[in-house]
Amino acid sequence: MKKAILTLAIGSAIFLAACGGGKTTSTEGTKTAASDGETIAMKSCISCHGGELQGQNNAPQINNAGSRFSEAEILDIIKNGKGTMPPGIVKGADAEAVAKWLATQK
Ligand code: HEC
Repeated sequence: MKKAILTLAIGSAIFLAACGGGKTTSTEGTKTAASDGETIAMKSCISCHGGELQGQNNAPQINNAGSRFSEAEILDIIKNGKGTMPPGIVKGADAEAVAKWLATQK
């Protein structure tokens, strides 16, 4: 019985270690992507949407975009443009990072 518990404990320790390792990496990845998303948005989107993405001229407020759009919808707008907003202002992983970050802005 003791042996079984020990085996189980060691087994789950290894499992947790493996899992924990993966999780740490992906959490860090998400964090980096999120802050990168903000950095990229603050570089690439403010020229039209305003210094705090609060909206200016023809470009609407997007610092609350997460309350109106899903991450996928924001990514779609970035990729394909919308109305007079040109498509592809940022691309690939940058576009995904911006969409991910904006989707959390509500
Ligand atoms: C060249 C100016 C310009 C730039 C740069 C720009 N946008 Fe836009 N964006 C617009 C305009 C104009 C609209 C309004 C389009 C419409 O509905 O006709 C818009 C609309 C949007 C919308 C939809 C908002 C709504 O309420 O309908 C989102 C989301 C958005 N932009 C995100 C971004 C992001 C993210 C970036 C940076 C990667 C960005 N935009 C950069 C001009 C711009």
